Amino acid sequence: MTALAREPDRQADIELAKMRRRDLRRVLAIEGTVYPRPWSRSLFLSELAQRHTRTYLVARHEGQVVGYAGMMFTRSEAHVTNIAVAPELHGVSIGTRLLLALVVEAIARSCDTISLEVRVSNGVAQSLYEKFGFSVEGVRKGYYVETNEDAFIMVADNALSTEYRLRLQSIRSELRKAFPRDTSVE
Ligand SMILES: CC(C)(COP(=O)(O)OP(=O)(O)OC[C@H]1O[C@@H](n2cnc3c(N)ncnc32)[C@H](O)[C@@H]1OP(=O)(O)O)[C@@H](O)C(=O)NCCC(=O)NCCS
Repeated sequence: MTALAREPDRQADIELAKMRRRDLRRVLAIEGTVYPRPWSRSLFLSELAQRHTRTYLVARHEGQVVGYAGMMFTRSEAHVTNIAVAPELHGVSIGTRLLLALVVEAIARSCDTISLEVRVSNGVAQSLYEKFGFSVEGVRKGYYVETNEDAFIMVADNALSTEYRLRLQSIRSELRKAFPRDTSVE
């Protein structure tokens, strides 16, 4: 066996599935790598227990969890609670696929407004959200207490509109072009 760690196959298929308790070891490992104040196991468990108002997905690559995302639903609104991808697989559209799947579920639940908070300094995540039609609608001062950083509140309005469906369609087409064999693109 070689001493070198194997490079991940960045073109290989990604599978999306509902997050299960057994995914949490790997989810927490990613969480601890990408956030200064990671969610705890008990917080994930409490989210997973709220089956009617939460959806949590994992993305798997070669059977291993490499990303996850979650959403909270109220009657007509959805809120992205978390989205993260293992750093070695950033930039290969896993975040896009996870967010697409969540947004599709929000629409299926008749949510016309989708919101989230994002660090003011997190330009990469903001670009992802802008691609999905989110724009900055406010600021929460000092929202991230560990760094005293502000959060932008980003919102996608009119998620039930034809215009928004067309936006999602174009995101899907781009994904299909880039990953023709990938069954995770709905
Ligand atoms: C934000 C995050 C989930 C994005 O996941 P990802 O799988 O790397 O994102 P994708 O490859 O799908 O790229 C989505 C968009 O982000 C932007 N983006 C991705 N990598 C980028 C980079 N290096 N520089 C600038 N923009 C970038 C692009 O707009 C891209 O869309 P495009 O490829 O159509 O141009 C990932 O960076 C991450 O896990 N970050 C740490 C956790 C985090 O910050 N979560 C968000 C909390 S609000």
